[in-house]
Amino acid sequence: MDSIKNYIKEHKNRFLTELIQLLKIPSISADASYHKEILLSADFIKNSLEKAGCDKVELCDTPGNPIIYGEKIIDASLPTVLVYGHYDVQPADPIELWTSPPFEPVIKKTEIHPEGAIFARGSCDDKGQMYMHVKALEYMTSTGNLPCNVKFMIEGEEEVGSESLAWFVPRNKKKLANDVILISDTGMIANDIPSITTGLRGLSYVEVEVTGPNRDLHSGLYGGAVANPINILTKMIASLHDENNHITIPGFYDNVEELSTEERAEMAKAPFSLDDYKDALKIDDVYGEKDFSTNERNAIRPTLDVNGIWGGYTGEGAKTVIASKAFAKISMRLVPNQDWREITELFKNHFESIAPKSVKVVVKPHHGGQGYVTPTNNIAYKAASQAYETTFGKTPIPQRSGGSIPIVALFEKELNSKTILMGFGLNSDAIHSPNEHFGVWNYLKGIETIPYFYTNFTKLY
Ligand code: BES
Ligand code: MN
Ligand code: MN
Repeated sequence: MDSIKNYIKEHKNRFLTELIQLLKIPSISADASYHKEILLSADFIKNSLEKAGCDKVELCDTPGNPIIYGEKIIDASLPTVLVYGHYDVQPADPIELWTSPPFEPVIKKTEIHPEGAIFARGSCDDKGQMYMHVKALEYMTSTGNLPCNVKFMIEGEEEVGSESLAWFVPRNKKKLANDVILISDTGMIANDIPSITTGLRGLSYVEVEVTGPNRDLHSGLYGGAVANPINILTKMIASLHDENNHITIPGFYDNVEELSTEERAEMAKAPFSLDDYKDALKIDDVYGEKDFSTNERNAIRPTLDVNGIWGGYTGEGAKTVIASKAFAKISMRLVPNQDWREITELFKNHFESIAPKSVKVVVKPHHGGQGYVTPTNNIAYKAASQAYETTFGKTPIPQRSGGSIPIVALFEKELNSKTILMGFGLNSDAIHSPNEHFGVWNYLKGIETIPYFYTNFTKLY
């Protein structure tokens, strides 16, 4: 299959212009005012799957954003790969921190991407990585190199919790039947250190509201005599970690899987420089749970983080006021075995219980999802590993990631199949942040590597 390299050389410019076209559509799922752009993106993907050689492509209605389903079935006796990805993107703000507009993609060179990277919201997460699969399919169908059946399922609500997909999957089990699920929506260690993501954390996301007096008060007339909801909220939040940075919610760690000394030693073998890590973030020191390394803290340990906090006067100048209410959004990253509904309940009970009588506390659960660990002893992992060996010249390192794709656990439950996570992004690609980008080299390397997964998997099947 040496021809994939030539095919990429020949079509590289078109591969880039097509992706750039898709990246120009601001398909932000969190903001309802971009609904038209959501539909435009979905249409774009439908058309591109048709052009790439799918026999059947459908724009599937859901209670929310449409899901694109596509397939090319060549022989029922051959295995079927189901590709999942998402076309929705995160909001671009704070927009003023972008060096070029988020929906006007440009290719710029960076230290890590000397061949250039596409700067645009969604370039890495996940339009760019999803589109690699469309182009890999185009190569395989147009050159007679598709070795097995393939299905695509591309959704538009991943960044807001995949509610419609959770509705869609159990209703379409037959249509979605497959032998393995293939996803590129994660990262790898470095361009010269390929890795396969073998774990995702779960998530519980909640919002809290603390109410003190029934109206905003003069902080001189009332200050010191009534509870200030902002003071109380920050105190309550601070109490959620102890001096060792353990989470204090009773029962929180009950189902946390403790890795053996051997497993931790194995993890520690992955190349990692704490100095480079600190330097990349311009921090003098890292911070986290006692007795765990940085890579353990962000992959195999659960966390609790405030994502936003607000209340009171934040305008220009000063206003002496005790606000009636204070709010925070809190996320908990979970490890496999921790049930996100149970954790949400534990949080709610605990947070309500630590509130002083002088305030009222409401905990509103948002979305959540289970973590996932992929096996490394099955043919899917082997097929992926061999694919990287061919195109990177190196055996990829298995590595658990701290991020979440909650729908993966549901795929296993509903479709009874394992997922393989072949991510080609880098942590420095700034997903969810200003100036998100995706290396041109990474984009093309992904397109080059994917077809080998198909052939290897079909051979091993
Ligand atoms: N693609 C990311 C998840 C990811 C990125 C996993 C890098 C591993 C490595 C995904 O789009 C994402 O952002 N997921 C959300 C969860 C979702 C429920 C909003 C997350 O992890 O915050
Ligand atoms: Mn993603
Ligand atoms: Mn994301």
